Amino acid sequence: MKRYSRNIKNYFRENTFRTVMWGFGVIGLLLFMLIFSSIFRSISYERGIAGKSEEKDLIVVGFSQLGSESVWRTANTASVQRALSEEEGFYLMTSNARQKQENQIKAIRNFISQQVDYIVFAPITSEGWDTVLKEAKDAGIPVILLDRTINASDSDLYTCSIGTDSRREGEWAAKWLEMHLKRKGMQNQDINIVVLQGTKGASVQIGRTIGFDAIADKHENWHILEQISGEFTTAKGKEAMSYLLRKYDDIDVIVSQNDDMTFGAIEALDEARISYGENGTILISIDAVYNALELVEKGVINADIECNPEQGDLLKEVILRMEAGEEVNKRYDVEEMIFTKENVSQYMDSRTY
Ligand code: AHR
Repeated sequence: MKRYSRNIKNYFRENTFRTVMWGFGVIGLLLFMLIFSSIFRSISYERGIAGKSEEKDLIVVGFSQLGSESVWRTANTASVQRALSEEEGFYLMTSNARQKQENQIKAIRNFISQQVDYIVFAPITSEGWDTVLKEAKDAGIPVILLDRTINASDSDLYTCSIGTDSRREGEWAAKWLEMHLKRKGMQNQDINIVVLQGTKGASVQIGRTIGFDAIADKHENWHILEQISGEFTTAKGKEAMSYLLRKYDDIDVIVSQNDDMTFGAIEALDEARISYGENGTILISIDAVYNALELVEKGVINADIECNPEQGDLLKEVILRMEAGEEVNKRYDVEEMIFTKENVSQYMDSRTY
């Protein structure tokens, strides 16, 4: 009996040992296959870029998008991807920087080392690009700025910029307010204004602020109570608006530097049970994405100043001109307009974003 149970013990011990060894073997094999396949994939990816683009004679473009913070941004990325498609003769590499300048710099360096034909990037903020742009220039790669602009020590560090006139957007917001107050016979009343600003240091935040302030300064009865950042997102817009509503109980006008922050501000106003739009606090927004235009149509947002994200076709045109050896302008502005309840309906059907 003793011998029998010893045998059983030995049997289990040996089998357990064998099973463990088998387990290690299988795990080892799986690890090896995993490492090998990822190395193989990255090699073939690198080869893919060069091989595919050369084979089909495609124009290779590295595009560093600053993030995906807003509906507008998604539309902007889609516009570039649509315009610079393979059918149109492009090999486009898109990199999302997730709101970090260091990620954009890394992406640009990566594009330089891959020797792309063109680098396109939407700069998150306007400062801090000189070094990496010098590297691109030394590598002989033309750089095109999209959407936002930069403050460079030498404007030769980039070939051209394509985007919207953010200063004019700010001015239009103020001019619409001037007109609206006049129409309501309120032009001489004291008007308290708060501003939800976009990402601090972004050229569009700076431009929109300068544009709005320049006109506001002409009106002694306009009082800008506070300008606060909502970072171009709904969540931060709501947070900023809730803070402003706790601090001030006499806000007449909210200027929001993009639609996503406006959506957040609306949530905060609802929670505070404060009426807005046609029936209360004046709400001025910037971007004019479809969901915001619906609110303009309903009289919830009083005016929406367009910031046009459809910049891909213009970008394509500029690159093709450069390919043909033609001179290009230093600056291209896309077309924009102001939407109010009076004109918005006719544009709803064609709005794709
Ligand atoms: O740079 C354009 C701005 O950035 C748009 O107004 C905003 O929606 C985006 O996030």
